[in-house]
Order: sequence, then C-alpha cells, then structure tokens
Amino acid sequence: MILLLGATGLLGGQVLRGLLERKLPVRVYTRGASDWKNASISDLRRRGVEVVIADALEDEKFETAIAGCDAVINLIGAFAERKGASFEDIHVKIVERLLHHAKTHDVQRVIHVSCLGAAPSEDNRYLSTKWQAEKIIKKADCYWTILRPSFMFGEKFPFVEMFKLLLKFPPFFPLIGSGMNEVQPVCVDDVANFLIECIYKKETVGQTYELGGPEIYNMLELFEMMRQEMGLSTNNVAVPVHMLKKMLSMMSQAKSPLEWQAFVDTLPLLSIDSICQTNALETSVELAAGKEVQVLGDRLEKILSRI
Ligand SMILES: NC(=O)c1ccc[n+]([C@@H]2O[C@H](COP(=O)([O-])OP(=O)(O)OC[C@H]3O[C@@H](n4cnc5c(N)ncnc54)[C@H](OP(=O)(O)O)[C@@H]3O)[C@@H](O)[C@H]2O)c1
Repeated sequence: MILLLGATGLLGGQVLRGLLERKLPVRVYTRGASDWKNASISDLRRRGVEVVIADALEDEKFETAIAGCDAVINLIGAFAERKGASFEDIHVKIVERLLHHAKTHDVQRVIHVSCLGAAPSEDNRYLSTKWQAEKIIKKADCYWTILRPSFMFGEKFPFVEMFKLLLKFPPFFPLIGSGMNEVQPVCVDDVANFLIECIYKKETVGQTYELGGPEIYNMLELFEMMRQEMGLSTNNVAVPVHMLKKMLSMMSQAKSPLEWQAFVDTLPLLSIDSICQTNALETSVELAAGKEVQVLGDRLEKILSRI
C-alpha cells in the first residue's frame, strides 16, 4: 500500500492518476475540501482507493494512515501561511510526524517533494522551511528520495496565480525586483512520471533530484508572455521588493485582506532564481521514462483563460 499525502493538489492529482494506471494500491489523505470531497471521494473508493479525511497537523488518523504502508509519498505544501498552519507547521512539523510514525510502523520508503532553491534564508521562509525538511529527511533512518521541482504547471500554474493581482494592476505593472531572475517551469505530468519511476528503483534511494522544464525564462519574459496572451498593455515599472511589500500591505488594509496577505507571503518567491544545476529530467533518462517533456508555452493560453 502506498500512502499519498497531498493527493488533491496539482501534482498529487497526476501522481494519483499514474499510480492507479499502474494498478498500485493507494491510500490518500486529505482534509477534504468540499469541492474535491463531493466530486471525487466516492468515485475513488469505488476504484479501490482508500481515502482518509483528516488534517496531517492535528489528527491521530495520520498515524493510522501511515501504519501498514510500504511507502509514503509526501506532496503536502503551501505557498502561503494561514492561521494555525505556518510554513514551519506544513513543511517541517508534518515531515517530523511522518518520519516518527513511519519509524514506529516500519514504513521504510519515503519520497518527499521539496522545491528547487530550498536553502537557509532569513527573508524567505518558504524556502528555508523546505530546506529544514530536507535536512531532517536526509538524517532519517529510511530509504528516502527527494525531488526538487522548479515552479510547476499543469491545468493551473500557481506561480502565475501568485501575481495575478499585479498583472491587472493599474496604471502600471510593478515588476518585482530587477525582473532578471530566471525560472524553469516544469510540467506536473513530467514530475509525476519521474516520481512514480523512483518508487521501486533502488538506485534512487538517498538521492536528491532537481527537475526543471526544457525552457528557462527570466521574469520579464514570463510577464511579457502572459500580458501579451491576456491582451494587457500597461507599462513595466521596476519596483524594489521592500517597496512593493509596503504598497501591498497598504492595499491589503483596503481590499480583500486575506488575498493580499497571501500574496505578500509569496513575494520573496517571485524574485528568486529557480533553475536546475543538473536537470534530472534530462540526465536520468531511465527515470524520465523516455517521455518527451512538456513546454509551458503550449499550455499558457488554457492556463490564463482560467485566471
Ligand atoms: N506548485 C509548484 O509550482 C511547486 C513548485 C515546487 C515545489 N512544490 C511543492 O510540491 C508539492 C506539491 O505541490 P502542489 O502545487 O501540487 O501543491 P498544492 O496544489 O498546493 O496542494 C497541496 C496539498 O497539500 C495538502 N495539504 C496541505 N495542508 C495539509 C494538511 N494540514 N493536512 C493534510 N494535507 C494537507 C492539500 O490537501 P487538502 O487541501 O486536500 O487537505 C493538497 O493536496 C508541495 O510540497 C509544494 O511545496 C510546488
């Protein structure tokens, strides 16, 4: 039995599909957001998937969900904090609990999805908590594999959703920082295939893989692509990150405070580089399962039409 944490997410949906196609027994764990719950849970149960509805931070069901599994895949993560679920809680505490229960129940295989650029950082707690989790996993007494994807796209592109508020910002477009930082968007289908290939391959144990798409864009190029696609024609004005933070916190007091606050949380991510030193989708061909990797440009129109 494989426990899939984060099955309802962008990557989780693809991983779940791949596991079911390969007829592998799966248990999924979700807090059960109402849209997903209503649409999918009974269907999944009919297909033989075990569904556990609980919060990995709070509930004792977390331990029982881990018990009896051969492998755990951890895709739980968040780009923004909310009350009772800080980055530390979601990225570090859940991993600590997971490893503790895995040890108790002799679950040896752990595949963990971190992110490209995870590193100690004072002003980017998303990246630093992802880094802390990696350190804890690397010390754990289990057969671990860590994947570090760049920003992922599929049906959606959460990276774009982070700054959708800016795309429509009148009367100018506040480019974050210099706009020269580079990202390497990778398709969730490619990350999911790679992850599934890792599960039962001995050579992937104790390895950390960086995963990026075939094309690198700087932020300015990415913004231009999107604004052209959306038919927006405002001018770019470079705004230092600290000034943008001030602007946003003023705006957050006026309108949709939660939405703006979530955006402020993600701001540090929009001005970093997220490109692979070694892209395992190119170098580990046997794990990329011979599949042709997908390009962001081919899906952009559909992604933007949903924003
Ligand atoms: N998206 C990207 O561009 C990107 C890039 C690099 C790395 N990553 C990392 O890759 C992983 C997957 O990303 P994603 O974009 O697929 O994530 P996502 O769409 O935001 O989904 C997050 C998942 O985490 C689950 N989750 C969150 N808090 C939980 C809790 N307290 N208890 C149980 N489940 C919880 C959610 O489940 P429910 O809501 O159903 O409970 C959901 O399935 C994450 O670790 C993310 O940090 C993402």
